[in-house]
Amino acid sequence: MKIHHAEFISGAAKPGQFPMTNLPEIAFSGRSNVGKSSLINSFVHRKNLARTSSTPGKTSEINFFNIENRWALADMPGFGFTKRGVERRRDWAELNFSYLENRHELKLVCCLIDSRHDPMEMDLLFIEWLENHKKDYIIILTKCDKLKKGAIENRKEQLDSLVAECNYCQDVLPYSSVKDIGRSELMALIKRFGK
Ligand code: GTP
Ligand code: MG
Repeated sequence: MKIHHAEFISGAAKPGQFPMTNLPEIAFSGRSNVGKSSLINSFVHRKNLARTSSTPGKTSEINFFNIENRWALADMPGFGFTKRGVERRRDWAELNFSYLENRHELKLVCCLIDSRHDPMEMDLLFIEWLENHKKDYIIILTKCDKLKKGAIENRKEQLDSLVAECNYCQDVLPYSSVKDIGRSELMALIKRFGK
């Protein structure tokens, strides 16, 4: 499916600033630099809709995008960036978790993990949080263009078995923002959950 309309709605630096959209919403979360903003750009076939950077942890807001007047996508600030001060980490946690807990429109959380590495402790804690809070989510393995086919399969198997006992994980999806890997599968999941 081709996307004809994609536009930035607004950014929220604090919980009171989430926009009123009345659209089913899909959130993209994961460590700094894992590829959240690039994924959104590749998904809508735009280069610079969401701001990307090779410097991790630059974005500290949740950025909302309107897609086809049918869905909103939320680009979350990355977690685990250690150079942040204690205060910024506290602000980040308040913004993220109040969004995830209270956002009525939120239908699916995409939990991004770098396919080149084992999941990190923070990824596992986040998955545990999603399970405890009964949030539907998928795991997206990013940057798969950097791996050979066999290595992608091994990583997917590892994550599949990790979530085998989980109740709210809906899929584990290999993805690349530079090669066409995973986009049509992600579209199908967004159509399924984003209503
Ligand atoms: P924060 O906003 O800091 O949390 O980062 P982010 O998760 O939004 O990551 P971003 O999309 O800005 O990408 C980080 C870096 O990874 C950039 O240099 C991207 O070009 C690169 N990158 C992202 N996705 C891919 C991918 O699928 N393949 C390759 N090869 N590089 C990617
Ligand atoms: Mg980003």
